[in-house]
Amino acid sequence: RPRQSLAGKKVAITAGPTREALDPVRYLSNHSSGKMGFALAAAAQRAGAEVTLIAGPVNLATPAGVKRIDVTGALEMRDAAERAADLCDIFIGAAAVADFRPAEVAQQKIKKRDDNSEETLALVKNPDIVAGIAARKERRPFTVGFAAETEKVLKHAQGKLARKKLDMIIANDVSAADSGFNSDRNAVTVIDAAGSEALPSALKTELAQQLIEIIAAKALKQ
Ligand code: PMT
Repeated sequence: RPRQSLAGKKVAITAGPTREALDPVRYLSNHSSGKMGFALAAAAQRAGAEVTLIAGPVNLATPAGVKRIDVTGALEMRDAAERAADLCDIFIGAAAVADFRPAEVAQQKIKKRDDNSEETLALVKNPDIVAGIAARKERRPFTVGFAAETEKVLKHAQGKLARKKLDMIIANDVSAADSGFNSDRNAVTVIDAAGSEALPSALKTELAQQLIEIIAAKALKQ
């Protein structure tokens, strides 16, 4: 595979969790560290691409030469992703976007009730960022998603590939030891219309380089 395979191309990548505010001091979120998405951004930059990295709240240094946009909630990530997608050739959704957000964000800290009654939290669905970009009729980048699954990994990932109309999906067994959320390593299966390719456990930095080579080869063939 050629080096600098993405020279002259623009790549946008989402990474990390989103944080959905409940009140001024509380939020809903998940265990994504951003490591996978940041590693992809670094690998795409090394492959010659102009990279925009849309990052949820994470504790990671920005890879050299990468343009980083920090966001907090899913709606803010969606807006930044849509703007980046207008200009990019390849879009990769590596973020763990919260599927739901509180229906209302309380202006003041929510108080405990004096009795011991249950508290109920009303949630509304967040927009599906990667599916929105894949559904475009115009200015549609080559669109890649991840699938974080705990069972029937390939079956569920194939379902998401079709339902979200993605060009490629990277299936992640997040229940496996030393893999998935927050780990330095990951093991994935890349799936597209042509078939699938398993990439065994490796450091996310190494895996990212393999993934970028695979994505570049497919995206540029289109
Ligand atoms: O950040 P790390 O700690 O390194 O962990 C990496 C990771 C496990 C988070 C990453 O490899 C991964 O699998 N990311 C996707 C996590 C996820 O939310 O998967 P999902 O199966 O729920 O979503 C499927 C796809 O739709 C993903 O591309 C996701 O970004 C996208 N999505 C989901 C919901 C939503 N509202 N908008 C989206 O764009």
